Amino acid sequence: MTVRGYAPGRVNLIGEHTDYNDGFALPIALGVGATAEFDGAPGARVLEVSSREEDGAVAVPLSTAPGADTVPGWAAYVAGCVWALREHGVAVPGGRMTISSDVPVGAGLSSSAAIECAVLEALTAASPSPVPDRTTLARIAQRAENEYVGAPTGLLDQMSSLYGAEDTALLLDFRSLDVDPVPMRLGDDVLLAVDSRSPHRHAAGEYRARREACEAAAAELGVPALRDADDDAWRALSGDEQRRRARHVLTENRRVLEAAAALRRGDHAAFGALMNASHASMRDDFEITIPAIDAIAATAVESGAYGARMTGGGFGGTVVVLASAEAARRITAELPGIVSGAGFPEPAVTPVRPGRGAHVA
Ligand code: GLA
Repeated sequence: MTVRGYAPGRVNLIGEHTDYNDGFALPIALGVGATAEFDGAPGARVLEVSSREEDGAVAVPLSTAPGADTVPGWAAYVAGCVWALREHGVAVPGGRMTISSDVPVGAGLSSSAAIECAVLEALTAASPSPVPDRTTLARIAQRAENEYVGAPTGLLDQMSSLYGAEDTALLLDFRSLDVDPVPMRLGDDVLLAVDSRSPHRHAAGEYRARREACEAAAAELGVPALRDADDDAWRALSGDEQRRRARHVLTENRRVLEAAAALRRGDHAAFGALMNASHASMRDDFEITIPAIDAIAATAVESGAYGARMTGGGFGGTVVVLASAEAARRITAELPGIVSGAGFPEPAVTPVRPGRGAHVA
């Protein structure tokens, strides 16, 4: 019997690089995602994985572990989930798995978390072990990514994919791991994802460097995480760069809470202003944007958007825009030409809305 696990990508509306600082974020799950189709083979000690988007099947031994025999490439996300599930005490069945995904890769929309969560949905549904709760699944996926794949990411992407719901943004608290659903009624307004089509460069090393800077700032302030520092504690830090890194995180946490309140009131103008402030903070203080992304965000706002900001880890990827229907029409028609005319790759504009989270399909 075939088991199908589905899990979406995400757009983070606000709250970037806050997850590993025990802070807050406000993402939505997307209507595009990854599917993992699994057929068990009784007694098999291997998971044969193939992808509709990539060539070649990969044999993942169920005993796979980080280290010498780590499975390379895209299949590492699958192998990492096999390893992390077994580490958690879940019996993983052998068999065949086919992955397909319509989340664009490298666009900052969490294509890898979508694969991880789809794989976990399929393998836990097919396993005789009890299915872990959603937050535990998110931690298992994060462990796969941190310890098997070797990317020091937080829990934002997996929590978004696993808890997403239609017409709902998720106010996430990364200390308590509480998920507070915030109704998102777009009404006549529109949410756009503008893919910069600019490849991520040095993103992994820069991500790690930002994380280390935050940890160093927390240590200097004598707090467990930047979440625990007062709003203006950044002033006491030594060094301009260190102060700006911490200021981004502290002000971003505050903006997330204000944005969730604005969304509950249906105040999209106030929400947009917070998106713009978040973008400026990522550009000037955290320094994770690139000129193509800044050009997209600025053009969207000049075209009448309530707000626009880069979403995801940075150094490329996607700008999320909140706009009235009229401004959205103008942006869709004119922004790609304006941005490519300024010498950047021509962006792709797609309307998005909050979609359903991971499930067995
Ligand atoms: C990437 C990481 C997340 C988060 C964001 C930035 O998407 O995977 O854990 O840190 O960057 O907010």
